[in-house]
Amino acid sequence: MIAERYDLVKRIGGGAMGEVWSATDRATGDDVAVKMAQGWAATEPELVERFEREAKLLARIKSPFICSLVDAGRTDDDLPFMVLERLSGETLEQHLEREGYLALDEAGRIADEMLQALVVAHAAGVVHRDLSPANVFLHRTRDGKTITKVLDFGVAKVLDASAPRTGARATMGTLPYVAPEQLGDSARAGPRADLYAVGTLVFRAVTGRMPYGDAQGTALVVLKREHDPPSIDEATGERWPAALRTFLTKTMARSPSKRYASAEIALAALREAVHGKGPALAIPEKALDATTTLTGRDRRSRKSRMT
Ligand SMILES: Nc1ncnc2c1ncn2[C@@H]1O[C@H](COP(=O)(O)OP(=O)(O)O)[C@@H](O)[C@H]1O
Ligand SMILES: [Mg+2]
Repeated sequence: MIAERYDLVKRIGGGAMGEVWSATDRATGDDVAVKMAQGWAATEPELVERFEREAKLLARIKSPFICSLVDAGRTDDDLPFMVLERLSGETLEQHLEREGYLALDEAGRIADEMLQALVVAHAAGVVHRDLSPANVFLHRTRDGKTITKVLDFGVAKVLDASAPRTGARATMGTLPYVAPEQLGDSARAGPRADLYAVGTLVFRAVTGRMPYGDAQGTALVVLKREHDPPSIDEATGERWPAALRTFLTKTMARSPSKRYASAEIALAALREAVHGKGPALAIPEKALDATTTLTGRDRRSRKSRMT
């Protein structure tokens, strides 16, 4: 029991600095999720501060596509906690692990909702900085619909000069999705760093592979800094709709100034890539499915079933 109000039921998730529990709100009877700093984080003022900042940031952004904050405070042991709407379903990471890759329609809908979340966050002056499949939840609503919820503003920052600079340790993000300008100096990550993450995520979702293949660690850092990612056609050896190719090239450009100027503009481009008719959509989706089953996609889906 926390704050004489939230009955913790079971641990449902956890990461580097915190853990997430399903809980019941005694006051309202609602199902909620409680995110708490791990015990050891209490001895690290920087982590405690970051945790409390996440609660503050969440309190100022309201979107159906962002997991909402219900309450926040400190436990009797003085550990910060926040209470969130309880989501049911799975993370995009779990979904991708199981499915291998997603149809353009589905990936497009997820990215569309993520970008809508970013429009709201960026308008409130908040950059997420750690968008990755583990921080995107595919929430099943009571009426059986799936809605995308962005989680985990733990590394987020406010675009405000008075905000404290976070130390390197607290701001890594998730390397494969982190924009090149965020590597090393996360203070340089602006709203366009979030667009880079969305582009990478769409690339991963529709192809079943990462833009820089299996590269990891230092090798990946060097590639990200020195080479633009290959186009989706080059990476897969398949022809994809031109508008999708453009969307990915523009969101994942190494230089932030070459990316879309805002989440709104990226959203419009994504909608054209996914639903666009006419010259922008070089191959109708049906034809794409038919041609791709014979090539790389088939191998990938078999591989993903085996692993
Ligand atoms: N509101 C929620 N409802 C249900 N599960 C959640 C909720 N928030 C987080 N989780 C689960 O807990 C995991 C970790 O949460 P997250 O906010 O990403 O914290 P961390 O900073 O530890 O990565 C998520 O990947 C998800 O599986
Ligand atoms: Mg997380």
